[in-house]
Amino acid sequence: MRPNLPSLDSYWMPFTANRQFKKAPRLFVGAQGMRYTTDDGRTVLDGTAGLWCVNAGHGRRQIAEAVERQLMTLDYAPSFQMGHTIAFEFAERLAKIAPGPDGHKLDRVFFTGSGSESVDTALKIAIAYQRAVGQGTRTRLIGRERGYHGVGFGGISVGGLVNNRRVFPQLPGTDHLRHTFDPVRNGFVKGQPEHGAELADDLERLVALHGAETIAACIVEPVAGSTGVLPPPKGYLERLRGICDKHGILLIFDEVITGFGRLGSPFATDHFGVVPDLVTTAKGLTNGVLPMGAVFASRKVHDALMHGPEGAIELFHGYTYSGHPAACAAGIATLDIYESEGLFARPAEIQAEWDEAIHSLKGLPHVTDIRTIGLIAGIELAPRDGAVGARAYDVFVDCFEKGLLIRTTGDIIALSPPLVIERGQIGEIVEVLGRVIAAAA
Ligand SMILES: Cc1ncc(COP(=O)(O)O)c(C=O)c1O
Repeated sequence: MRPNLPSLDSYWMPFTANRQFKKAPRLFVGAQGMRYTTDDGRTVLDGTAGLWCVNAGHGRRQIAEAVERQLMTLDYAPSFQMGHTIAFEFAERLAKIAPGPDGHKLDRVFFTGSGSESVDTALKIAIAYQRAVGQGTRTRLIGRERGYHGVGFGGISVGGLVNNRRVFPQLPGTDHLRHTFDPVRNGFVKGQPEHGAELADDLERLVALHGAETIAACIVEPVAGSTGVLPPPKGYLERLRGICDKHGILLIFDEVITGFGRLGSPFATDHFGVVPDLVTTAKGLTNGVLPMGAVFASRKVHDALMHGPEGAIELFHGYTYSGHPAACAAGIATLDIYESEGLFARPAEIQAEWDEAIHSLKGLPHVTDIRTIGLIAGIELAPRDGAVGARAYDVFVDCFEKGLLIRTTGDIIALSPPLVIERGQIGEIVEVLGRVIAAAA
């Protein structure tokens, strides 16, 4: 064990092989700009924006100062039958850039504490909406294979990653579309793949199976992230929207990853020009600085619930930390930075360099597919016989030792650097990763 380390015994780490990790820990003690510092004094280039969240880069003084000011002015106040001004101010700021075209923005904002909470909130809003419009038989929720919607019971029920589901019971009344990965027709694609729009017709199949009158909502990630980066085939999201409209099903985009500039637009909704009824966000909302999520709802959904006696609570849902003042302060300062530095446009500016650099890894040993969209990349490696995930894990550890943070899921490497990345740092990512993949057994 390295000197000056605290005992590692008590902290039960999330999504981590605890026993393996604690024998050879990877520990960060600082971060600035595009780089972390480790406890043994090395720097590590952040190829993943933390966990897809630090879009404006690390150590932003403006955010830290806004949080400090807020904490010394009003640290906490309840949000149930009470309010504080900064939550309204933040919601108003978000409404201005909300997903959707002008005049049809999803500009009603419900605050949560995380992406998982945003997902469960959106699913509950969808069911409550259906009941409010006289469609109370609609309680079924449709997700998609390989989807990731956090770790609440709602999220794992509509999610489609087996490791997150197999040990736990799920909500009754959920079902799943097929995933859109089709490496035979769509290999090594930049942007949206050509083939697979027809996979959206799976929703018609589920309508035929269950009856439209049982289905409240369909939730998908516009670009599936955690499963290993699956951009939507051309026409797929449009088709899904059409089928939802035809059958009175609400469409939810889970934009926890794609929200706040990742694709070169404020939201994937804007990028793809397909407008859902609800959008879930978190992560980049506060630059990852404080935990917070937000659900954006259309006026249609919101207004349908603003009924009944005026003194009646319209939605029996909310969290102690909904609209936490310090998180709101962090969020407003984050939006200021996004705006003043034009960060939502950044991925589009460097798209060509990003695509070209990442796709230059084609041809290296074990690389079976590469997918890029916005400032995201998925690099798929062939699994070792009988040891799925082991090859990518070794690449992850070797990259870390050589000063690069990547993320892996199964045998897929996912990259999603802060939007402030410089062109030279794209080169650095590819140089280190290329070397490590080439040496991987
Ligand atoms: C699409 C999506 N939804 C939900 C979540 C869950 O967010 P959180 O970890 O903040 O609960 C994530 C996290 O990566 C995500 O990628």
